[in-house]
Amino acid sequence: MASFDVIILGAGPGGYVCAIRCAQLGLKTAVVEGRETLGGTCLNVGCIPSKALLNATHHLHEVHENFEKMGLMGGAPTVDWAKMQDYKQDVVNGNTKGIEFLFKKNKITWLKGYGSIPAAGQVRVGDELHEAKSIVIATGSEPASLPGVTVDEKTVVTSTGALTLGSIPKSVVVIGAGVIGLEMGSVYKRLGAEVTVVEFLDAITPGMDGEVAKSFQKILTKQGFKFILGAAVQGTELTKTGARVTYKLRKDDSEASLEADVVLVATGRKPYTAGLGLEALGVEMLPRGQVKTDSHFATSVPGVYAIGDAIVGPMLAHKAEDEGMALAEILAGKAGHVNYDVIPGVVYTTPEVASVGKTEEQLKEAGRAYKVGKFPFMGNARAKAVFQAEGFVKLLADKETDRILGCHIIGPGAGDLIHEVCVAMEFGASAQDLALTCHAHPTYSEAVREAALACGDGAIHV
Ligand code: NAI
Repeated sequence: MASFDVIILGAGPGGYVCAIRCAQLGLKTAVVEGRETLGGTCLNVGCIPSKALLNATHHLHEVHENFEKMGLMGGAPTVDWAKMQDYKQDVVNGNTKGIEFLFKKNKITWLKGYGSIPAAGQVRVGDELHEAKSIVIATGSEPASLPGVTVDEKTVVTSTGALTLGSIPKSVVVIGAGVIGLEMGSVYKRLGAEVTVVEFLDAITPGMDGEVAKSFQKILTKQGFKFILGAAVQGTELTKTGARVTYKLRKDDSEASLEADVVLVATGRKPYTAGLGLEALGVEMLPRGQVKTDSHFATSVPGVYAIGDAIVGPMLAHKAEDEGMALAEILAGKAGHVNYDVIPGVVYTTPEVASVGKTEEQLKEAGRAYKVGKFPFMGNARAKAVFQAEGFVKLLADKETDRILGCHIIGPGAGDLIHEVCVAMEFGASAQDLALTCHAHPTYSEAVREAALACGDGAIHV
């Protein structure tokens, strides 16, 4: 039996970041992980491999759409799917090995296997029992299932299977117009597949600022996406060539179906806590399957903590990382804190979509007096040069105090641009603070400044 200050269950972004910070703060730390490689869903079968495929297919899209316009002649390259898969795997391997290196560097013990918590202060991994003053549940999430839909990860796939299809499909039906559906849908659209998205609600990307979501849908439609909104999927069945998806239109209850080579089920994820022994341990759970925690990530059982997708909040790697760092600091006797008002969200399509803080709908609902500063990328020289001038930056600020309340960007580099607004919000900045900050020309980030100017006396380039 080995003894540790902290044992963390799960080596995803929440768990491994928590472990590194614990070790840096002088705590004897171990991580239990049963996967062959570290990094969890995000590095192995989520954020990272999908970004590799998005990158490769973005370039293909550029060749098809824009190369000739720039005088780059010679036609489109052929796609070697196996090689693209190798590239994706190399990117994953580089990152997972990187975490292994960081574990060694920080003297973190990797307990290989799947763990359970037989009692507070104890973690079992296989036949071995280990002791720890603190135990952290960082076991993440898994795809939620949908009634009537049987996933085989070949024809009817979740995001995991969608990353490793045997060949490029000619047609894909995506169930759910959320982040996974639109990112992976983009990959296959750019590879030439016909992509139809069936969504339960009347708009895509629930929770996104309504104006941005509308513009996003328009741009994706122009790219060739087909959307069937207000449609509740009833089930799938395998056919000779693929699968059939049956759905019911909510407006009139009429039923229809669609056939495709591949069906991607992307209707959300649920916390993954199976096999941990939480029920026997008496850990209180929430109705939707999350572990209940207080503001210090403590569960109802003393000495047992939880972070990331396993608890409430957006299921985002960076939210889990921040919670991991904050908890490590709390366990080391410091004051760890996560500012949930400033957690950015990014969709890595082309164009990217990014947001932080409140949406206009949320401000309206809260009855808050606000002002909107908007700037279209059409007025941004750099965006025009890369044929991505369709989107805009929308900054929301308090009507009285000018304090920034939210920002929503659809356009080139949105996922990076959003962070200047995050920093501004952390510092409690006003729109004027952003507007008075010199931004280099020509950059995409000038559009953020222009949106801030639009909150005051007006933008310059519109
Ligand atoms: P999601 O929650 O973003 O979207 C699921 C969509 O499916 C919703 O629009 C919902 O209305 C729809 N839906 C549910 N049941 C349906 C039915 N029967 N018929 C038709 N539509 C139905 O979930 P998604 O895309 O699966 O992502 C899961 C999690 O992973 C999310 O929390 C997301 O934030 C996270 N994620 C984040 C990424 C990023 O930050 N770039 C990338 C990938 C995932």
